[in-house]
Amino acid sequence: MNDLDAPGAGVAGAQSTSGLTAESTIGEWLDDPVGGKIFRSILSESGQQESVLQPVRGITLAKLASLSNGQMTDAMVADMVGKAQSRTLQTGSGVAEVSHPESAVSAPQSWVEQVTPGRFAGKTVIVTGAGSGIGKATASRIVREGGRVIAVDVSAERLSTFRDEYHEYTIETVAGDIREESLIKEACDHAGPVIDCLANIAGIMDNFTPLHEMTDEVWERVMAVNLEGMMRLSRAVLPVMLNQGYGSIVNVGSEATLKGSVAGVAYTTSKHAVAGLSKSMAFMYGPHGIRTNVVAPGGVTTNIEAHFASQMGSERVNKILSSMPAMAQAEQLAGLITYLLSDDSANINGAIIPSDGGWSVQ
Ligand SMILES: NC(=O)c1ccc[n+]([C@@H]2O[C@H](COP(=O)([O-])OP(=O)(O)OC[C@H]3O[C@@H](n4cnc5c(N)ncnc54)[C@H](O)[C@@H]3O)[C@@H](O)[C@H]2O)c1
Repeated sequence: MNDLDAPGAGVAGAQSTSGLTAESTIGEWLDDPVGGKIFRSILSESGQQESVLQPVRGITLAKLASLSNGQMTDAMVADMVGKAQSRTLQTGSGVAEVSHPESAVSAPQSWVEQVTPGRFAGKTVIVTGAGSGIGKATASRIVREGGRVIAVDVSAERLSTFRDEYHEYTIETVAGDIREESLIKEACDHAGPVIDCLANIAGIMDNFTPLHEMTDEVWERVMAVNLEGMMRLSRAVLPVMLNQGYGSIVNVGSEATLKGSVAGVAYTTSKHAVAGLSKSMAFMYGPHGIRTNVVAPGGVTTNIEAHFASQMGSERVNKILSSMPAMAQAEQLAGLITYLLSDDSANINGAIIPSDGGWSVQ
């Protein structure tokens, strides 16, 4: 039992009530005397440091719950809100002092996506991972800018939701695993004889294991999805682009393309390999009018799943994750990816561009 659950808590010596809701940001929760106490007690029960919340201070409690892959249930959120709204902070009666962490430097919350009408008019673009997160934000931006998207994802359900949400636009969905040659053929067949752009975005995390604890299964799965799928689809698309004499490819890497300290060995290796694959593609095909660039996201609020399976990995990586700037929105990544896919970036080839709020310079 924590002191907020204690009988009588918040009755005597009450001084302030909280107006926190599920739509309040994590920063608002942490900075509120009552909300902060509730949050810190949950963190301490699960053995976690408050620093893990630093990058998500700008998102709402409801959003955090939706991103938690079931770890934070609706019932938990309702319970937190109920406690925050009904309880008050005791003062002067032995209740521990509430500490106020320094606020993180947050990305401007007022950022609004600006669509460039017609930028992809008449263009066919293959987008992988289009059912969720960065891939969905990218695919949606392209269709709203006049393009035709071949949306690829392993989740047929997510693809169908995406198509329903944007039913007035030209979207063809291809459901299947990027590791399968049959899916790659199907995506290229759907695209047809001209493929203007390819966005290789589908990817998965590892489980933060260092090499001596990593299993073959994790290595093979992560390398197959993050690297081999990207390689196979690019290999299938390149003859089309060579034939037409132009094309733009964006491969999504990660902060783990730049650092060894933000994931386990499998993810880090796969995302470093994305840089090598992309540099070779940029070098070989640049003279043929085909540009290849890498986007390296820092933390982004998406549905990507990440579970710590190693104490060593958790201890090492969590220290670094606590220095991560505020998480970005998937649409902010889509802004950079669509810029690199479009003719706006005509002179950029072989670049690895972080979109991480400056994390990579720390
Ligand atoms: N979210 C982050 O903080 C972050 C940070 C750095 C890099 N990235 C990279 O961004 C990319 C997109 O991730 P996201 O954060 O949007 O995650 P996400 O989970 O929200 O979206 C990824 C999509 O890829 C699909 N996918 C997964 N495996 C697939 C497979 N084998 N075949 C086809 N589709 C598959 C998933 O179904 C999902 O819809 C990934 O490459 C990821 O490594 C994400």
